[in-house]
Amino acid sequence: MGKSGKKTKESHRQGRGRRGSELGDDDLPSSAYDAPPRRQEDSDGDDSDEATAEGEHDGGAEEGDLQGQWQVGSMPSKFHLYQLSVQSPKGDISYLQKFFLMYVGGRVPLHLQEDFCGTALLSTEWLRTDTRRTAVGLDFDRESLEWCLENNLSKIGADGYSRLLLFDGNVLQPNESRLVKQKISDLVQGLNFTSDDDSTEMNSCEQSDSSFTKCAANSTMSDAVLPGRDIICAFNYSCCCLHKRKDLVLYFRHAFNALSKRGGIFVMDVYGGTSSECKLRLQRRFPSFTYFWEQEEFDIITRETRISLHFQVGKKQMIRHAFTYHWRLWSIPEIKDCLEEAGFKSIHVWIREMPDTKSSGNAKEYTADRDVKYEELQRFNQADAWNAYIVGVANM
Ligand SMILES: C[S@@+](CC[C@H](N)C(=O)[O-])C[C@H]1O[C@@H](n2cnc3c(N)ncnc32)[C@H](O)[C@@H]1O
Repeated sequence: MGKSGKKTKESHRQGRGRRGSELGDDDLPSSAYDAPPRRQEDSDGDDSDEATAEGEHDGGAEEGDLQGQWQVGSMPSKFHLYQLSVQSPKGDISYLQKFFLMYVGGRVPLHLQEDFCGTALLSTEWLRTDTRRTAVGLDFDRESLEWCLENNLSKIGADGYSRLLLFDGNVLQPNESRLVKQKISDLVQGLNFTSDDDSTEMNSCEQSDSSFTKCAANSTMSDAVLPGRDIICAFNYSCCCLHKRKDLVLYFRHAFNALSKRGGIFVMDVYGGTSSECKLRLQRRFPSFTYFWEQEEFDIITRETRISLHFQVGKKQMIRHAFTYHWRLWSIPEIKDCLEEAGFKSIHVWIREMPDTKSSGNAKEYTADRDVKYEELQRFNQADAWNAYIVGVANM
């Protein structure tokens, strides 16, 4: 996420019957499609493809944090490349907070649940922003969760560690998901968890005076006594991993039930436009690597598509299919209907038009215009490419 995202211009799309953005000067949230911009020095600088230990943008961890994760000459982890090219947790948090204040308000949101969390970069950044904050991450990819513990969580120290619970499990059966913990960090004094080794001394979870119950590794989410969540999010099009309508409604019900009884919001993103329904390859160049988004196919009967993310590091090293997703590209009205069915009282759609994927040069280098902000809209004419945030509000 580049600093240029902070400059706000008056939206050129006002006057089409749309409500102008009420959001101020923010970083944009993250998305695999809406890739973070180049920093000024990225475009000015050395164009060589040599791998360096530099951070590419200010989206996730601080620049200093990025250094040292990636040694010159060594192949970076696919998770590290993903975080650098796709994620912008500061932008996510700024939008989440504003959505919460607009639609719930009356208190500072403290408790986040990041569903489909992958490496839970957003959760770890959330913990940094306020020492009262807690986060719960849920994903069924153990490798991502463990990478988070070793690479993201290890940077926020013991205090942060005690405020994050990562669960390995299916969002459709969250209560059966199992707590994942880091053995090394477990040894740090004063932590809120027990290690695998001493879990025999503890029967699942015990009440403690801190924000979370003290839980043994492998406890289930239903064992843990968690605060009602102020915000639950499912980012980077993760809801598209669910292909059946009944699963989408079931997932939304779980999210609704986990929100605070004092009111909370569920936020997800989705993309679309004519370019989303055909084969498409976009690329974005960073100083030390190139990120590729490839839509391999789109079935108009099932609305299923396969997206692959590839990375090229240096001149020759290619990580093909670093991530591949089989998605059902849900439409906004389908999502709204399912949210309503799950109990959400009001639903708000925030959209941002994306640059035309067919305009000259874009196929080679897709550069999002950071000055086009998200707006809450009731209607939006089809475009080549758009990205949307859908906010479900649960006012109990
Ligand atoms: C597109 S990635 C998004 C990762 C992260 N949320 C982000 O913003 O970049 C989708 C993630 O959802 C996870 N996932 C897919 N289906 C799931 C399910 N039914 N339950 C839990 N996790 C799931 C995958 O393992 C993957 O980490």
